[in-house]
Amino acid sequence: MRDYLVAGNWKMNGNAAANAELTRAILARWGGGPAPVRLLICPPYPYLRELGKVLAGSSVALGAQNVSQHASGAYTGEVSATMLKDVGCEFVIVGHSERRAMMGDTSHIVAEKFAAVLGAGMRPILCVGETLEEREGKRTEAVIDEQLAAVLKRTGVQAFATAVIAYEPVWAIGTGRTASPQQAQDVHEHIRSRLKALSAEIADSMQILYGGSVKGDNAAGLFAKPDIDGGLIGGASLKADDFLAIAAAAASLN
Ligand code: PGA
Repeated sequence: MRDYLVAGNWKMNGNAAANAELTRAILARWGGGPAPVRLLICPPYPYLRELGKVLAGSSVALGAQNVSQHASGAYTGEVSATMLKDVGCEFVIVGHSERRAMMGDTSHIVAEKFAAVLGAGMRPILCVGETLEEREGKRTEAVIDEQLAAVLKRTGVQAFATAVIAYEPVWAIGTGRTASPQQAQDVHEHIRSRLKALSAEIADSMQILYGGSVKGDNAAGLFAKPDIDGGLIGGASLKADDFLAIAAAAASLN
């Protein structure tokens, strides 16, 4: 039985006061939380250190939304994995489709970032997912296989003993259009089967999150599916009520 992970990807939103308030509201109302459900927030870089202090000693984890693939040096504007570890991050999202589409993160770069996160002793959350055009062209599995293969080639299957995968169909992100629980389950099952071919033990224990317009009213249907182990939440993670409704949906299934 895998635990649920409910992760908030705050993207480029908020400010110091609002982000501290959101963090405090989540903490106060979640408390310890039921053990099989873990919460994670991924605020923008400048707020990580401060919010890490707010979360210290709590059951809510801290993560970053991106990382440099480089260890240190002349990379103006970049942030390394060891810096993120330094400020208290446990998780780092890599390969989000917004970065793949707009910031030039190729599958090769994503694999390098994934390796950097692992190397610094944190847990990568690898995002994979197809565009609408790719889905309509029946290329969903091929696209995901390519995204997974780049990482597997770089780090091997053993990395997924701690890494998390997030299946995020690009057409469902921020659109209000969610994959149906069965559509998501089919892809999650495919991802797990890919890993299973390399290590049944790792494939069975690895968490696969669904992301793309998850809300309080559709979360339970998605999370009830056997291969869906939680969510990566964008828009609905920006309000404590909405985020906690999704966490409560996960808790109700245990
Ligand atoms: P959304 O974003 O929940 O707003 O669709 C999900 C994500 O981009 O991680």
